[in-house]
Amino acid sequence: MDVKEKYIEFFIKKNHKQIPSSSLIPENDPTSLFITAGMQPLVPFLMGEEHPKGNRLVNYQKCVRTNDLDEVGDKTHHTFFEMLGNWSLGDYFKEESIKYSFEFLTKELGISKDKLAVSVFKGNDTVSADEFSADVWRSLGFSDDKIAYLGEEDNWWGPVSNTGPCGPDTEIFYYRSDEKTPAHFDPEDDNWVEIWNNVFMEFNKNVDGTYTPLKQQNVDTGMGVERITSILEDVDDNYLSSIWLELINKIVEISGCSYDEFSKEIRIIADHIRAVVFIASDPAGIRPSNSDQGYILRRLIRRIIRYAKKLNIDIDSDFEKVLANIVINQYSKYYGEIKSNEKVVYEVLANEKNKFSKTLEKGLREFDKIISNLDNNIIDSEKAFKLYDTYGFPIELTVELANEKEINVDLEGFKKKFKEHQEKSRQGVSGKFKGGLSSDSLINAKYHTATHLLNAALKEVLGDHVCQRGSNINEQRLRFDFPNPEKVTKEQLNEVEKIVNEYINMGLDVTKKTMSKDDALKTDAEAAFVERYGDTVDIYSIGDISKEFCGGPHVKNTSELGEFKIKKEESIGSGLRRIKAVLK
Ligand code: SER
Repeated sequence: MDVKEKYIEFFIKKNHKQIPSSSLIPENDPTSLFITAGMQPLVPFLMGEEHPKGNRLVNYQKCVRTNDLDEVGDKTHHTFFEMLGNWSLGDYFKEESIKYSFEFLTKELGISKDKLAVSVFKGNDTVSADEFSADVWRSLGFSDDKIAYLGEEDNWWGPVSNTGPCGPDTEIFYYRSDEKTPAHFDPEDDNWVEIWNNVFMEFNKNVDGTYTPLKQQNVDTGMGVERITSILEDVDDNYLSSIWLELINKIVEISGCSYDEFSKEIRIIADHIRAVVFIASDPAGIRPSNSDQGYILRRLIRRIIRYAKKLNIDIDSDFEKVLANIVINQYSKYYGEIKSNEKVVYEVLANEKNKFSKTLEKGLREFDKIISNLDNNIIDSEKAFKLYDTYGFPIELTVELANEKEINVDLEGFKKKFKEHQEKSRQGVSGKFKGGLSSDSLINAKYHTATHLLNAALKEVLGDHVCQRGSNINEQRLRFDFPNPEKVTKEQLNEVEKIVNEYINMGLDVTKKTMSKDDALKTDAEAAFVERYGDTVDIYSIGDISKEFCGGPHVKNTSELGEFKIKKEESIGSGLRRIKAVLK
């Protein structure tokens, strides 16, 4: 049994219900591109909403963190990773949580208590020191030498964005070294690696920066599968654990390069291939593009190609398929979507590879030409833009290549050029820079606007209880989740469709006002998941029929939308309905 299975089984024995891993793409969160922690999809339930599976939950969740992309290549960083988590939604609290963790680590995984140490929150102006947790650790046999009291930067977790559920945490550390475990726990000593984080989420961080108690006291824990596996297998490089073995061996085999000499490049290829398999197979339907998640996917694939080239792998072979196949076989037991979307993954990889490898060679030559003709140490915006526009070099690739030669790139100038170009080619569809380049397509903007119209029409037909509880847009359709006690009848759906089309035909102007969130909250604009917005928000109004907080983008006038058609209406449980609709 692997650690995931042991974890789930253990918490099921402790009366937890297993919940599936959510999609990698947040359902209703304009502030993050990917799920970065297991608790993210659970925010409404941590805030007090009832979870259909009860108040003790456990899962393994697929996560992607892209802020560390440049760090990948060392022993510990991963773009995609799996997080083990158990939650109490207002049920058990600190004592049980700590005892469960201790029992799992020492009894189920057989880790010696002597190799462990913990940290607890030392308190601040709002919340006092967490003596309760420290006492529980003492009762389990931890001496004061093995309990560190640390401040907010270490022992306070959340919220995910500016506002939302958060709280003090207690972290468990393992001494990863062949040397004898020191008697005293020194959090500054890198041999002590954090393996598990138990967060006691009992506060909500408000817009004004203050904290108020949540409706309930929750537990949110998170443990990275890659790290705990490397510890159980006694290796000090995550990429040397059994998780990576087959993939790494295959890269070594097809490149003929040794891991010792080329560990950075080999790790990057292995990490990125696994991330690409998970992103491309996700039900959210992400495809390489120049915006948002699609742009990350594109960057990852282009990086794979570039590093494969560095290792002299034959790019024209189907090496990427061979590697992806290893990941698919390894994980499909846990994530069915990987197997069912296997073909899609291969297609995405091959298409993007073909697109990029045609220009990569020429682009690299152009890059060499640019740097050999530099007057100063900076690649100007025009040259960087040419590499992007003509040779398909993500700006990050140019920066990476430049950094290797200790040369700078005029990033600000590039962003300006990029925006000008985008505005020209998209005639007014607003764009945004988020986690990389972003140029939301016109169809995206249309669906955003149509979503607001649908929300307004549903209110008109069903009543004011309708509000946005989830929204997801891709280039094929919009999806909208809202509360309603019963199925929406065929007649009601026809009526909603008719009203939306009337709004479209009325040619209503879409206008945007940017203001501070505080001011925005005082207006009558509708806001879903307020806690996930930053300090400044955009309010979009459509004629006088809709006014909502939104990250956009939107079209300028509803007449641009075409014909609106509802394709499906269904239940998604607990009084929530889902509508899928298209624009024709
Ligand atoms: N949310 C916390 C983390 O990500 C615990 O799950 O570490």
